[in-house]
Amino acid sequence: MNQKGNYIKVWDSFIRLFHGLLIIFLGGLWWTVENGRMELHKDIGIALLALLIVRIAWGIFGSESARFRTFLRSPAAIAKHLCTVFKGKYEAENTHSTAGGWAVIVMLGLLLSQVLTGLFSTDGILFSGPLSNWLSSDGQKAVTSWHKSQFDVILMVIAVHILAVFFYRLRGTPLIASMVHGYRKNSQQAPNLKPGWQGMILTIAVWLILMLLL
Ligand code: HEM
Ligand code: HEM
Repeated sequence: MNQKGNYIKVWDSFIRLFHGLLIIFLGGLWWTVENGRMELHKDIGIALLALLIVRIAWGIFGSESARFRTFLRSPAAIAKHLCTVFKGKYEAENTHSTAGGWAVIVMLGLLLSQVLTGLFSTDGILFSGPLSNWLSSDGQKAVTSWHKSQFDVILMVIAVHILAVFFYRLRGTPLIASMVHGYRKNSQQAPNLKPGWQGMILTIAVWLILMLLL
């Protein structure tokens, strides 16, 4: 059912699970480094890579609301959208907001780059990423320092992401609940959603392949 009274379903179960797992995995990746559990750090990183690969595919072939071409708009459209939000006249769309669309791309890109640099990183003593011996010692050092400093950038972007979500709430547009249960009060037509389980099965398949390869 994609419509319940005034509520339409905007997010399929794969997107919602993906978002929940991002939060859990991010905490796990940080915790494992703090506690020297680097094998687990790698395993969570590989599971994150599987999720990101399928999220990117879902952005091309998946639900209408999750497709990149649905939510990526021009700078002029973003400026107009922000004026509407500031005036408190914005009604949540049946996809990401016009400004939020590009933020999604930035977050997905940074997370992908973080996993890829992790694969080539090393602590120089006890643990090395599975592809680190493809690089010279100088290359390993450069990528590891990139991996470490990029995490701070990710934390800053996430802080802005969370502040933006609360800003929309203050201007009268709640977004968080629909990322949890999928539904949003909205007068627009419900988007065409793909069954989320397809994304989940695909993620498990990609994850198993990555575990065999890495
Ligand atoms: C408790 C903290 C968080 C809250 C309340 C939150 C809230 C949200 C909400 C409401 C959306 C949907 C926005 C919309 O309707 O357009 C969203 C999307 C998103 N968030 Fe978060 N978020 C949190 C933490 C995170 C973290 C830690 C990450 C990254 C590691 C993250 C990455 C993303 C991404 C990539 C999307 C786009 C989802 C997609 O289209 O696949 N969020 N978040
Ligand atoms: C397969 C994936 C990954 C591998 C193999 C990997 C590997 C590594 C290695 C070798 C280090 C250096 C540890 C040290 O010098 O003590 C490191 C540090 C770190 N990694 Fe990863 N990583 C991966 C994915 C990720 C991801 C996805 C995140 C976060 C989104 C992340 C966050 C961190 C953080 C926060 C540090 C410590 C930074 C610091 O000490 O300042 N890693 N990782």
